[in-house]
Amino acid sequence: MQIPLTCAHISDFHYDGPYSLSCVEQAVALLQRHPVDFVCLTGDYTSRKVPDEQAYSESLRAISQHALTMAIFGNHDGGAYMSSVRGGPSTTEALRKLLEGSGITVFENTRETLTVRKQELEITGLADLWSGKNFLPWKLLLPGKNPSLVMAHNPDSKDFYARYPWDLMLSGHTHGGQVVIPGMGAPFVPVQDTKRVYGLFDLPNSKQVHITSGVGNLRGIRINCRPEIAILKLVPGTQLEY
Ligand SMILES: [Fe+2]
Repeated sequence: MQIPLTCAHISDFHYDGPYSLSCVEQAVALLQRHPVDFVCLTGDYTSRKVPDEQAYSESLRAISQHALTMAIFGNHDGGAYMSSVRGGPSTTEALRKLLEGSGITVFENTRETLTVRKQELEITGLADLWSGKNFLPWKLLLPGKNPSLVMAHNPDSKDFYARYPWDLMLSGHTHGGQVVIPGMGAPFVPVQDTKRVYGLFDLPNSKQVHITSGVGNLRGIRINCRPEIAILKLVPGTQLEY
């Protein structure tokens, strides 16, 4: 990579009613103040079902009109977790239609070579770790000459796919802990690696993972854990600043 590229990493809107849509709208307004080369959305667009598709599509379209926007699905967006645990949709098709109809490119176990300002990046978007579709990574996470950016909703993916070649993983899912108790940390975070729930982490073999606290939440609760949109600067040598 010759010159820095700027990426907005946004996740976990959890749109399930008027309050959460206003949070989405605030996030979009914040994004619009920051010029970026592309946007990565890393899942959980709703908690269970989108209440107002037209209103949501307007916000999503504002994101895709700001910059090239790529998206993956989270555990709440459909699949094995939603159908077996929460009685939700067994597939992601409804949200795929909404995202694509809003001008967003959806990745679900797919990979593309992206050219941004004459620089090539390999972008891989994985199905969620709990979706029942997390298979065949060896067909996606291949060695190559370009920097490799992987979108994976659950940051435990960094361990699940550690043996494969990639440089930077973008994840959400944790909501930064959502409830953070001083001196104790985040007691309710739904990941195996409870030491890495928010921020940028160096990993073995020159890999990095960025875990955003996201925009929305579950059950309307956030304590000592601010929502965010993250602006990442990808610079030569695969180092990351934000
Ligand atoms: Fe989430």
